[in-house]
Amino acid sequence: MKISLLFQLSGFHSTLPLAEIEAMLSLYGSFNLLEKTERFAIFDFVGKRNVIDSLRRRLSLVHGVFEFLGRCKLGDIETFFKEKQVQIEMPYRIRMHGMLINDVIDRVADIIENKSLHPCVSLEHPKTSIELFIKGKDVYITKLLFYPDKSFMKHSPKHRPFIRPVAMDARIARCMVNLSRIANGKLIDPVCGTGGILIEAASMGIKVYGMDKERTMVKGTKQNLEFFGYSGDVMQGDVITLDKLFPHNYFDAVVCDMPYGISSSLGNIRRDVLYSKAIVAMRNVVKKGHYVVIMVPEEINLLNVKMKLIEIHKERVHTNLTRRIYVLRKECD
Ligand SMILES: C[S@@+](CC[C@H](N)C(=O)[O-])C[C@H]1O[C@@H](n2cnc3c(N)ncnc32)[C@H](O)[C@@H]1O
Repeated sequence: MKISLLFQLSGFHSTLPLAEIEAMLSLYGSFNLLEKTERFAIFDFVGKRNVIDSLRRRLSLVHGVFEFLGRCKLGDIETFFKEKQVQIEMPYRIRMHGMLINDVIDRVADIIENKSLHPCVSLEHPKTSIELFIKGKDVYITKLLFYPDKSFMKHSPKHRPFIRPVAMDARIARCMVNLSRIANGKLIDPVCGTGGILIEAASMGIKVYGMDKERTMVKGTKQNLEFFGYSGDVMQGDVITLDKLFPHNYFDAVVCDMPYGISSSLGNIRRDVLYSKAIVAMRNVVKKGHYVVIMVPEEINLLNVKMKLIEIHKERVHTNLTRRIYVLRKECD
């Protein structure tokens, strides 16, 4: 399939929404970023048709996904619709984003209704929703494809039976799973805490493994997974022994949020030592060509860890804590 897609980005974070889209598109084909604004991003995509279903089920930081039909000046909108064959199934509706200019909606409605034998509008249940994104004097003409499934928000820490202050926002957890570019297979979070990352991965049909040094966290993660109807293999253990417990090249992805020594205790080990040993163990257990997505405090540098750096995102947790999400790929054994 060949399609141009416009993604309406969540304002939740400045870089993660785009990175999440690119990670997901890369699973199904090739893509080219045509334009990015604060509110939306447009891509040309060539690849498998099931990308659409996957985007709908998995995206966490996108409000809506639209087929991008083209762009023109506001004054040229009649010409655009006259020249371009836009398939409209009735009933239809027109919506605007960015700025409401009633005159434009009326002008587009006139063209559509003049071309159609039985024009009919439904604001609630249209078969075609023409959506116009206004930027300055330009209008981006699109058709709504879908709104991503946001039912994962029911996994928010406040809805879980087992809660601790370390629990991660469900949107970030889901986005991190997506950044790992895992389609299916096995994912491990070796410092799983309350299980935020595992819950998101399990809800996508991925087989999940968890580990935590604390027995209460292991019990709590199991309880949380079970509460939402998911299962996983969760055990007590030390992240630095991960590669003694599992074979090398075993997992399709490692995704985690490392203990930072404020709410989550480190035990008797210095933080830099823990991190460097942990990253070696993670690298060993992930398959070649696959990804380790890891969140660490800002002052930790993971540039020399014998994995290819794909991207880094900054995440401000609160006034005293800023962290970075590293996306790393294992290139060789
Ligand atoms: C930041 S929390 C993870 C939070 C998790 N993402 C969530 O959503 O709840 C880090 C976890 O690492 C665990 N931990 C600390 N040192 C560890 C070690 N050496 N091995 C395994 N787990 C460890 C802590 O008990 C804590 O639960």
